[in-house]
Amino acid sequence: MPTFKVFRYNPKTGDQAYFQTYQLPEIKGMTVLEGLYYILENIDPTLAFRSSCRQGVCGSCAMHIGEKYRLACETQIADIGDSVSIRPLAHMKIIRDLVVDLDPFFAQYEKIKPYLIPSGEPPTREFKQSPAQRAKIDFHVDCILCACCYGSCPVVATDEKYLGPHALLKALRFVDDSRDGATNERLAYLASDFGVFRCHTIFNCQQVCPKDLDPTGAIGKLKMKALWAKFTGKLGKNE
Ligand code: SF4
Ligand code: F3S
Ligand code: FES
Repeated sequence: MPTFKVFRYNPKTGDQAYFQTYQLPEIKGMTVLEGLYYILENIDPTLAFRSSCRQGVCGSCAMHIGEKYRLACETQIADIGDSVSIRPLAHMKIIRDLVVDLDPFFAQYEKIKPYLIPSGEPPTREFKQSPAQRAKIDFHVDCILCACCYGSCPVVATDEKYLGPHALLKALRFVDDSRDGATNERLAYLASDFGVFRCHTIFNCQQVCPKDLDPTGAIGKLKMKALWAKFTGKLGKNE
């Protein structure tokens, strides 16, 4: 019979955080998210957690399950053992139980200007890419902004200004986009104090990404690009 040990905390009560144990029925194919819903609907209606799509697309059910950060909807209980501890994403304020305040995560994302900046006048008609040009950004586009990487990164834990693996991986998506005209300005910002050179190449972000993306590799590529732009005198202004 599966046992969940779930982190409970309500900052409004002033009570200390604790782990609450719940016994679940053995149901073949049950995911951790379904287990949490079972608790909510049958045992304890006060348990708080986030979810939306239930199929690994929205990123809202990211949490620490067992040994690592994962998506609850994509994790089968049978794959992680009978007794599992579940806690919220780290490095963010806890709103209640498994729900954290994602504002700092999205604030860092916004800082990398996650939209195309064309050189010159914006195009007035379709802005085409060749299949090869599109293939260059294929992987980075798949990021669902779940924050598993952000919660797992020790640099994020100690430096709230660090842009973080999610923002830097997405930054490469725009640097590598053939339609973007702000590459050297982007690189100047990414090479600033809280950008790529704050990364200590710890690889946690790569190991936990539920979409098998490689933020560590993306940051490495951005470091090389920034250094090359500086060396060749092309690095833009950090505005
Ligand atoms: Fe989630 Fe992976 Fe994107 Fe990080 S890089 S936010 S772990 S999908
Ligand atoms: Fe953090 Fe990933 Fe770099 S875990 S230190 S962003 S390699
Ligand atoms: Fe959307 Fe899990 S509920 S990714």
